[in-house]
Amino acid sequence: MKLHRELFIAGSLDDLAREAAARVVDLANRSVQMRGRFSLALSGGSTPRRLYQLLTQSPYRQAIDWSRVHLFFADERFVPHADSESTVRLIRETLLQGVTVPDENFHVMPTESGSPEQNAALYTRELELFFGGTVPVFDLILLGMGPDGHTASLFPGHPDPAGIVAAVHDSPKPPPIRLTLTLTAIRAAREVMFLVTGADKAETLAQVFDADINDAQALPAARVSAFDGRSSWLVDPEAARAIRCHSSA
Ligand code: 6PG
Repeated sequence: MKLHRELFIAGSLDDLAREAAARVVDLANRSVQMRGRFSLALSGGSTPRRLYQLLTQSPYRQAIDWSRVHLFFADERFVPHADSESTVRLIRETLLQGVTVPDENFHVMPTESGSPEQNAALYTRELELFFGGTVPVFDLILLGMGPDGHTASLFPGHPDPAGIVAAVHDSPKPPPIRLTLTLTAIRAAREVMFLVTGADKAETLAQVFDADINDAQALPAARVSAFDGRSSWLVDPEAARAIRCHSSA
């Protein structure tokens, strides 16, 4: 598979959020036009917060038919949704403060009862029902990257989870228990977009951009692409400073 990592180096965090918001709007409108809906899987962490807030503001809020948007999760911390660590809570406190998505379109990863494994199976089933097949094809998966090269809740040195949604019990990034889309699920997406900022990720980002997606030993973030081998990386100058020469798309 021909790999292509598109690199966009934003001038500032606001520029990065604006570029990301513009791309989300474009993908949402194309998806709705072609398929009548837009399936978007979201990540947690601190980087995407500004994007989620920006999407509730003009011109982005009005530029998307939010009634056609289905929100999913790339991963979730296995805590109650009211917990300060919950990504569901992050989305409710940012994006859903300013846009209205029908309740049935807000596909949260279940974490309120049962075991992580039981809930991973429940979410797998929800994805099968929504996408009508064993492998979900998200229109866009929004991802971050940790300084160790993890993405979603797929961590270096951990075996590749099987299936579509997996339970993680030993996340090096707290909280330790999580649910995550697997590489299989992520790699089927139509589009994958990373938001990466901060000097503490610069060396790892350079390593990712030098890596071969087919190298099973590569960092999890380096092994991610959309179905056709492409991925978009929206980064700030600090995170990009160690990348060796790379032709941006
Ligand atoms: C999570 C995320 C995780 C995150 C990265 C980057 O729920 O923790 O899914 O994969 O995207 O750790 O986090 P920051 O954006 O906070 O650096």
